[in-house]
Amino acid sequence: MSVLEQIDKTKVPEHVAIIMDGNGRWAQQRGNQRIFGHKNGVKAVRAATEAAGELGVKYLTLYAFSTENWNRPKSEVDALMGLLVDTINSEMETLLKNGIRILTIGDIGMLPVRVQQKLNDVIEKTSKCNAITTILALSYGSRLEISEAAKRMAMDVLTGKILPEQINPELFSGYLYTAGIPDPELLIRTSGEIRLSNFLLWQLAYTELYFTTVLWPDFSKEEFYKAVLDYQKRERRFGKTSQ
Ligand code: IPE
Ligand code: IPE
Ligand code: MG
Repeated sequence: MSVLEQIDKTKVPEHVAIIMDGNGRWAQQRGNQRIFGHKNGVKAVRAATEAAGELGVKYLTLYAFSTENWNRPKSEVDALMGLLVDTINSEMETLLKNGIRILTIGDIGMLPVRVQQKLNDVIEKTSKCNAITTILALSYGSRLEISEAAKRMAMDVLTGKILPEQINPELFSGYLYTAGIPDPELLIRTSGEIRLSNFLLWQLAYTELYFTTVLWPDFSKEEFYKAVLDYQKRERRFGKTSQ
């Protein structure tokens, strides 16, 4: 039986998050510049989105650029920003045809203005799409997200909008970039690194974690299916006993 055939279609995670890692090493292994790896990562994004859509996943969050990634050489940052704009341009039709809604999370105001404009454009154009929501994490950092949430909550206390005693996990979640989006049931990280790198620290509290040594440009639909199948074999206890 193929991996796809083994997947229980009634137990597909509603939300899958992916740390797309290993582009640089993939390029270096081929004696190429890091950006060559990023360019080849685009088809893996397409594969993951297609696989997620076909399985019926409702939310796919992709970690594309972290707050820490601003510390990379300017040439690489510029190339990544250019690649993002080019990819949105080339994929727009496919997004609309396949009902893919685009959202972003992160400190979007940090991105170059032309990137922000392109993102606003794709968010607006795909706002009625309802097959799957793909959330791009851009200039995203979990600690920044949480501290910004705390700041806005403090402001709301100061202006009397909320009382301190109302603050609880549910209210807090509503101040995060991911307000209204269910927590991921499954997190995938490629490239063999076993860490979260400041990604969704709050939202991953009870997420199943899946690590693979596959480098992001080699990630295929089959790899996505493998991760979902692995997830389906886990017993999610949420602190309770098996009974
Ligand atoms: C992931 O690949 C893409 C981004 C972080 C933008 P990397 O660029 O981190 O590739 P490695 O980890 O150096 O191989
Ligand atoms: C995490 O990958 C960020 C993204 C995939 C966008 P990094 O390559 O930046 O993470 P570290 O530096 O290895 O932790
Ligand atoms: Mg990396």
